[in-house]
Amino acid sequence: MKGIILAGGLGTRLRPLTLVTNKHLLPVYDRPMIYYPIECLRNAGMDEVLIVTGGEHAGDFLKLLRNGKHLGLKHLEYAYQEGEGGIADALKLAEEFADGGKVCVVLGDNIIEANIRKASGDFFTQRSGAKLLLKEVNDPERFGVPQFDDSGKITNILEKPQDPPSSFAVTGIYFYDADVFDICKTLKPSGRGELEITDVNNAYLKRGDLTYESLEGWWTDAGTFESLHHAAGLVATGGANKLDTDAAPANDQLNTTVKSS
Ligand code: G1P
Repeated sequence: MKGIILAGGLGTRLRPLTLVTNKHLLPVYDRPMIYYPIECLRNAGMDEVLIVTGGEHAGDFLKLLRNGKHLGLKHLEYAYQEGEGGIADALKLAEEFADGGKVCVVLGDNIIEANIRKASGDFFTQRSGAKLLLKEVNDPERFGVPQFDDSGKITNILEKPQDPPSSFAVTGIYFYDADVFDICKTLKPSGRGELEITDVNNAYLKRGDLTYESLEGWWTDAGTFESLHHAAGLVATGGANKLDTDAAPANDQLNTTVKSS
């Protein structure tokens, strides 16, 4: 399975820092933010990665990451997003890279403690559809929030609801089959003028082809000063999903491209 990191956006909530570089290259304790999603994918056995970025500082990624070999990647590709169309708009640029196979999509400002290898393996054996990773949080109104029925099935996902129907956040780590690109093409911009990843997830929900798992360990985003500071503290005291080449499994199984049926 291939990995896609979405690292676009103007990072306006982190100005003036983001006037001179891309948000995802800012430091989170001892590493640039973009290292964490790369390590997240690599530790789960994915070493073919596409980074979708945009804006004025896109060239900075190349200086830091080069061909990705020093980070354990076999293949690193870049795509450039014009404008600010949102997460699902950025994802559209990954269609050729995915080449009809399943993908793991990670938002570039999401940082986790644990290894997602189990969820990745579970999705590998899932026939089709999508899988989300959920985390209980104190401030669900900042995120995509699932609504559950009595049996624990997700019935709807709301993007940044004022009155959250549960205390769970949809984290920025998603597994999709190749249909995701057709779904992205059907989306209409939301109130904030973006193609929302929550609309993609609701499309899979409507098809009855959405599963979820709880994310173990801590999780944070790092797109505001508060969360960036919080993330640095978590990494400093709790470690993060640091690249561990010994622990990363041989890629034979996860790397197999599955054509969607
Ligand atoms: C995005 C998604 C949201 C998700 C979050 C995870 O929000 O729209 O559904 O819960 O990432 O980090 P953003 O904070 O990028 O607006």
